[in-house]
Amino acid sequence: MLSTVLKPGDWAVDATVGNGHDTLWLAQQVGPQGCVFGFDVQEAALAAATRRLEGFTQVSFYQCGHEHLATRLPPTSQGRITAVMFNLGYLPGTTHDIKTCAPSTLAALDQALDFLAIGGIITLILYPGHTGGAEEAAAVRSRSDQLSPAFVVTRHVRLNARAPAPELIAIARRT
Ligand SMILES: C[S@@+](CC[C@H](N)C(=O)[O-])C[C@H]1O[C@@H](n2cnc3c(N)ncnc32)[C@H](O)[C@@H]1O
Repeated sequence: MLSTVLKPGDWAVDATVGNGHDTLWLAQQVGPQGCVFGFDVQEAALAAATRRLEGFTQVSFYQCGHEHLATRLPPTSQGRITAVMFNLGYLPGTTHDIKTCAPSTLAALDQALDFLAIGGIITLILYPGHTGGAEEAAAVRSRSDQLSPAFVVTRHVRLNARAPAPELIAIARRT
């Protein structure tokens, strides 16, 4: 979905960097002329991502919550961000105590909507299966449902899964 809109030279945000797999993909899509801004609260996550992204000068990392996105992104990025990725929950293989949660996720989503370019897309991967994940997923669905017709919101979820399946919400800005 994001590869249909991201072009070399675009600006993008990874709102949950973790080990940097998604950041790397974004950096490859926008190329050396683009910009990727990455947020994570965990020092260890950003250390791993920094190693993965060595040599990718188009990437800037911020060790802070994505709820501070609006104060960290350059003012010139308002209306200029083509893709924002949220991969919610906790970093696999580490403590489950550090994880995203509804209040800060909604604050970050509201700010990301302000920065999104016309034609840009925000993706959120929700994990309703872990403790607190169902509440966070419900909050994101509810906020997304209320968005104006300036946005097209779609939801993708596997129906024949035994446990609560991860789901994708995609928010595309039309106007
Ligand atoms: C599922 S992992 C992300 C995986 C990552 N996208 C990757 O490619 O490896 C979720 C990440 O969100 C981070 N996180 C938790 N609360 C956060 C917040 N308020 N702002 C930014 N990141 C947060 C966690 O530290 C964790 O690294």
